[in-house]
Amino acid sequence: MRTVGIGVLGTGSISEIAHFPSIAEIPEARLAAVCDIDEALAKKAAEKWGAEKCYKTYEEMLADPAVDLVVIATPNSGHYEQGIKAAEAGKHAIVEKPLACTNKEAWDLVNIFKEKGLLLMVGTNQRFWLQHEYAKELISSGVIGKVHFGRTSLHEGWGLYHEKISYTKFRQTPELAGAGAVFDLGAHRIDLLIWLMGSKPKRVCGFAKRVATPEQYTKLDDLYLAVIEFESGDYGIVTGDRYSPAVSNIGEFYGEDGTIFVSSEAQNPFQTAPLAIFTNKDYDWETMPDIIKQYRHPQLFWAEDILNKPAPKRWVTITPPREWAYKRMIAHFIDCIQNDKVPMIRPEDGAIATEVMCALFKSMEVNGWVDLPLEEEVIPPFYNPSYRR
Ligand SMILES: NC(=O)c1ccc[n+]([C@@H]2O[C@H](COP(=O)([O-])OP(=O)(O)OC[C@H]3O[C@@H](n4cnc5c(N)ncnc54)[C@H](O)[C@@H]3O)[C@@H](O)[C@H]2O)c1
Repeated sequence: MRTVGIGVLGTGSISEIAHFPSIAEIPEARLAAVCDIDEALAKKAAEKWGAEKCYKTYEEMLADPAVDLVVIATPNSGHYEQGIKAAEAGKHAIVEKPLACTNKEAWDLVNIFKEKGLLLMVGTNQRFWLQHEYAKELISSGVIGKVHFGRTSLHEGWGLYHEKISYTKFRQTPELAGAGAVFDLGAHRIDLLIWLMGSKPKRVCGFAKRVATPEQYTKLDDLYLAVIEFESGDYGIVTGDRYSPAVSNIGEFYGEDGTIFVSSEAQNPFQTAPLAIFTNKDYDWETMPDIIKQYRHPQLFWAEDILNKPAPKRWVTITPPREWAYKRMIAHFIDCIQNDKVPMIRPEDGAIATEVMCALFKSMEVNGWVDLPLEEEVIPPFYNPSYRR
């Protein structure tokens, strides 16, 4: 089967640490081209990662027939225009999170890719962390019963990725980032909550505002909180901030028959395992879900509780194998292109998460709940889409 030619747009930090190494390891992928407005950077990436072509403008790259799939890894405000042009040029796209900076932009993207019969996926790679996939499987198969409440969070100060890893300062620049903590951190965690709760958000209440960061650094929000009511009648809360010097990343799901805690590998005394589950169900060794059976690491393999009372009614920690989520995400998307499959992250998932994020700004305006889908375009207060066609 023909390899998929990938054009990477934006050769900044996430491309360097995630997309290029992933592409290099996927046999079905070929790095057909790279492009960055910083020409020297693009050339350096092309040489290092063996790109077939190096373009100065994305329009030129999109005209290249060797490019089947574009990875859009530029600052947030570029995603809309670049995504639309990628679809017009007949390319599939993985668009980095957030999919776009307004709900209208996000749905425009979803619609144009659908109209053209092309695949679109937002790069919320945290879904591909194995502990999240396991949590999804355990929740879906009813191991913790009906889940009525979930919470996800990601708290990480400006001083970490933004100051130390990112090539540019776009995250603190309103016209490039569109919004602050809510777009950068919330895009992941809101998507994750919706996916794991397995229902569509019906209404949203919350805020995204600047509480700790000096205005000279940025005008953008550094704390957000979203309360979501789902169509199922269940509830969720998502939080994030940009001032905490320590990373914390938590998911909690409370069902009628148990609880799941899921986190990143961010180690702190409170999170010592990627996944922990308490199930009240009466499983024995034969009926116990494979995930619990295979990935539970007891201190002693001959422990009595393994033999007699293998899991139920107490906490069990699960340690999945450590795999590279970005690689799994790109490999999955390539499999969808080659074998005509529907991506696990559907195009509308990126738009629904964008709706929730935009609804927080609307919620501050109306001082309460905001129904989804939003009736009109909500433009985050410091985003200026005047460059839009
Ligand atoms: N999925 C994740 O976990 C994850 C992690 C980090 C960043 N991201 C997302 O990836 C995107 C890029 O973030 P980053 O951290 O790599 O930023 P960065 O500042 O490190 O890199 C951005 C690159 O885009 C280039 N660029 C800007 N405008 C361009 C244009 N018009 N055409 C071509 N190139 C252009 C810049 O020169 C720079 O090299 C953002 O949307 C961000 O939210 C996702």
